Amino acid sequence: MSKKASTNKYAVVTGASKGLGFAYCEELLKLNYNVIGVARDTSALMELQEKYPSLDVQAWNFDLSIFENNKKLFDKAQAFDVEILINNAGYGVWGFFKETDLEQEMNMLDLNIKSLHALTKYFLQLFLEKQAGRILNISSMAAFSPAPVFSSYYASKAYVLSLGTAINTELKKTKAPVRVITLCPGALKTDFWSRSSNRKGAVVKTPVKIMKTSTYARKSLQAGLKTKRKNYLITGLTNKLIIKLNKWIPESWALNSVYKYQKNR
Ligand SMILES: NC(=O)c1ccc[n+]([C@@H]2O[C@H](COP(=O)([O-])OP(=O)(O)OC[C@H]3O[C@@H](n4cnc5c(N)ncnc54)[C@H](OP(=O)(O)O)[C@@H]3O)[C@@H](O)[C@H]2O)c1
Repeated sequence: MSKKASTNKYAVVTGASKGLGFAYCEELLKLNYNVIGVARDTSALMELQEKYPSLDVQAWNFDLSIFENNKKLFDKAQAFDVEILINNAGYGVWGFFKETDLEQEMNMLDLNIKSLHALTKYFLQLFLEKQAGRILNISSMAAFSPAPVFSSYYASKAYVLSLGTAINTELKKTKAPVRVITLCPGALKTDFWSRSSNRKGAVVKTPVKIMKTSTYARKSLQAGLKTKRKNYLITGLTNKLIIKLNKWIPESWALNSVYKYQKNR
């Protein structure tokens, strides 16, 4: 534990330098957790260290799409009393599958799937040994439908939801005190959209009202840390309604509307 920290509890957040991950770091600090923020460039986290001087903000630069770095991160984290892991780092590759760049897609899958999978296993084993801890994996509303023109990103988020739901069921069935909860945000105004479309300054376009990123972080963190029974969480009335509707409408309608929405972004 750092000398200045008033508590020894730590949370690890991947993709912590901006967007949703940065917002999770701040919400965790408000809940009196020290934070280990991970990204390729974590310099922005110094702002949080200045704002919360009585807590410790560790800023660790790791490219998690490089598989070995996930073990390096885990090994380094062993020196801290980690109670929470938020697997948040992720991005998308938008476009028609016949045209998107294979190398970029493989890098995205290394981050969205392989890094999240490995970190979930490392930390789950540690938390089970300690008989305490919680993992929050960031999926998306994208997990609930295939998406023409954004195919591999949506598929990667379906993997996150499927994996987490299965692991959490194992944990409940074996009466473990640890949970792996999958969080499914809808669209948020972050840099995700410019990175995913390879267009600088691209913004999210959606017919529904977008929740503020900090509001989503606060609400989903509170619910994710609290729930005992649920495997995954959808936040916001509109998102809940979309999931309900999705179950009733024919698949061809859903695919058609996702196609129109994604094609015109
Ligand atoms: N924005 C949305 O509408 C939305 C909706 C649903 C789900 N999500 C999910 O929410 C999560 C956070 O996205 P966001 O919207 O906050 O996007 P963002 O603003 O682009 O932030 C992405 C974060 O991931 C980090 N990152 C990217 N590549 C990395 C790598 N190879 N290794 C380590 N860290 C890396 C970035 O930092 P560096 O660039 O410094 O590495 C940054 O901190 C993602 O999993 C995304 O799929 C987003």
